[in-house]
Amino acid sequence: MSSVLQKLITPQASSSSDPPRNKVTVVGVGQVGMACAVSILLRDLCDELALVDVMEDRLKGEMMDLQHGSLFLKTSKIVADKDYSVTANSRLVVVTAGVRQQEGESRLNLVQRNVNVFKSIVPQIVKYSPDCTIIVVSNPVDVLTYVTWKLSGLPKHRVIGSGTNLDSARFRYMMAERLGIHASSFNGWVLGEHGDTSVPVWSGANVAGVNLQTLNPDIGTDADKEQWKATHKAVVDSAYEVIRLKGYTNWAIGLSVADLTESIVKNLSRVHPVSTMVKDKYGINEEVFLSLPCVLNSSGVCSVINMTLTDAEVGQLKKSADTLWAFLSTVTNAVAHGELRRRKL
Ligand SMILES: NC(=O)c1ccc[n+]([C@@H]2O[C@H](COP(=O)([O-])OP(=O)(O)OC[C@H]3O[C@@H](n4cnc5c(N)ncnc54)[C@H](O)[C@@H]3O)[C@@H](O)[C@H]2O)c1
Ligand SMILES: *[C@@H]1O[C@H](CO)[C@@H](O)[C@H](O)[C@H]1NC(C)=O
Ligand SMILES: *[C@@H]1O[C@H](CO)[C@@H](O)[C@H](O)[C@H]1NC(C)=O
Ligand SMILES: *[C@@H]1O[C@H](CO)[C@@H](O)[C@H](O)[C@H]1NC(C)=O
Repeated sequence: MSSVLQKLITPQASSSSDPPRNKVTVVGVGQVGMACAVSILLRDLCDELALVDVMEDRLKGEMMDLQHGSLFLKTSKIVADKDYSVTANSRLVVVTAGVRQQEGESRLNLVQRNVNVFKSIVPQIVKYSPDCTIIVVSNPVDVLTYVTWKLSGLPKHRVIGSGTNLDSARFRYMMAERLGIHASSFNGWVLGEHGDTSVPVWSGANVAGVNLQTLNPDIGTDADKEQWKATHKAVVDSAYEVIRLKGYTNWAIGLSVADLTESIVKNLSRVHPVSTMVKDKYGINEEVFLSLPCVLNSSGVCSVINMTLTDAEVGQLKKSADTLWAFLSTVTNAVAHGELRRRKL
């Protein structure tokens, strides 16, 4: 007696074992990881989604919950395991694992705790997906992007930090609110460090090509009677505010990571402010990762836009670089403990 399956379905093609074309892995299924996963799924950006975490019950629960939504999605395969073999052949890996800020804790304070977490994660990612691109989200993101680059042995264009993509989105939203227009119609960039020393590029802020600095030469400075500078301060403070109110931030970062994912998996060559290796740019002499406008295509960061900055803005960028370099000196010792993989040229 043949089964219902055999009676119902007659095979027409021999089963193939082609690898997935657009597989995305999310490491860490906490608040941020799941917001990234859902945003990526809802925008139909992958044909397979893999999840990894160390908390096995939570991981299985999240996987099952997403699978139960398959009727409403167009990603045919959702898998999860604590073993990284489940991530094999990923095109893109989003790393959100680690501890997050406590109320009032700075992002840089998390560094040592998260470096240790990354030593167990990054070599496993590269073992199973040697040609992947990695987007680092965990904080302090610029430091951990550097750590990931060192631990992975991947070329620098394949290791990206989500950086000030979120800060810029917050800035565009808040500036646009003040102007009564949609966030996408306010063009403005926040560069440098994700977080406390981020640099708003007032000299380039514009709506429909109308430069706001030509309308108000003092914009962004202390001398400005309209105090537009307060909007950037609100951007810096906003993560702390959301964490105080709900305990963590997740939706905006999830949506912004999905946007980066789209540029990479669809080879769009769109420009995003993300964390990349900035040595030799704007007079920065150290191997630090900071956000600059980067062109993202299927190869990762294919180029960096040489944005016109004022001397003051370049000074602020260098200050961000100095802050990070001071931290990296502590981290380098930790990373250099034998786990450092040979960097490919
Ligand atoms: N870059 C940004 O703009 C941005 C924005 C928000 C949050 N974050 C950062 O994202 C990170 C995650 O935040 P969250 O709110 O999701 O935290 P969370 O505590 O909700 O989730 C973290 C997850 O990581 C997992 N994890 C811990 N160690 C692991 C390991 N070795 N391997 C695999 N998984 C591991 C935990 O089990 C947990 O599920 C934090 O570092 C946070 O600061 C970054
Ligand atoms: C990616 O896009 C560029 C144009 O921006 C094109 O030249 C290239 O062939 C594309 N690559 C793939 C793999 O589609
Ligand atoms: C991405 O852009 C770079 C530089 O323009 C190009 O060399 C590379 O081939 C592109 N990647 C793909 C996959 O097309
Ligand atoms: C970037 O542009 C500035 C002018 O805005 C120029 O002086 C500098 O040489 C350019 N840098 C590169 C690497 O082309």
